[in-house]
Amino acid sequence: MLTFALPKGRLQKPTLDRLARATLVPDEEPGTSRKLIIPAGPDARMVVLKDADVPLYVERGAADLGVCGLDQVLESGADLLTPIDFGFGRCRLCLAAPRGKSLTAELGRSLRVATKYPRLTSQWFARRGVPVDLVHLSGSVELAAVSGLTDAIVDLVETGRTLEENGLAVVDELLQVSARLVVNRAAYRLKVEELLPLMEALA
Ligand code: PRP
Repeated sequence: MLTFALPKGRLQKPTLDRLARATLVPDEEPGTSRKLIIPAGPDARMVVLKDADVPLYVERGAADLGVCGLDQVLESGADLLTPIDFGFGRCRLCLAAPRGKSLTAELGRSLRVATKYPRLTSQWFARRGVPVDLVHLSGSVELAAVSGLTDAIVDLVETGRTLEENGLAVVDELLQVSARLVVNRAAYRLKVEELLPLMEALA
């Protein structure tokens, strides 16, 4: 039995399309069903999770493998195998600020930055020797910089529309993101006969 961690958000549809090519199809439509564990044929099942929780479930072995963005893999710090870059779910993790605002000017205090990615953000600023006051939010991060809660934000940019429509602009890019297959290290050894054909079909 293989347990697959299926992300709930924007990655769900392209993930299901890719899994279907590998003949891994859930018995019920995950978008409609309220089941949290959905069988997928006789030998597999899917656990339906927020993208950010996929790395933890897979690292701890509650799921053998799954799909999430590289942003979530790195932010989680989970020890995982990431054998396939699917190429979908492309976006960028960016530092952004109100258009025309200089972040290098003397503020007389630490730069205030809001983000859903405290680990990646603090690492990035630490590497540059810039002290930051991090504000950890869980959504609508752009609002922090628009409302004056923070000087800047670090968040995902896909089309750039959210920034544009809220008077913000990209200052720098932290990471290029795309969806990855993540695999539990122990499962990769113990379930290799089930996993290898699946991974070949998914690649
Ligand atoms: C994501 C991200 C940005 C937006 C970027 O938010 O956090 O807000 O999409 O997309 P764009 O560049 O195409 O405008 P999401 O919709 O996932 O919601 P959230 O802010 O609640 O996380």
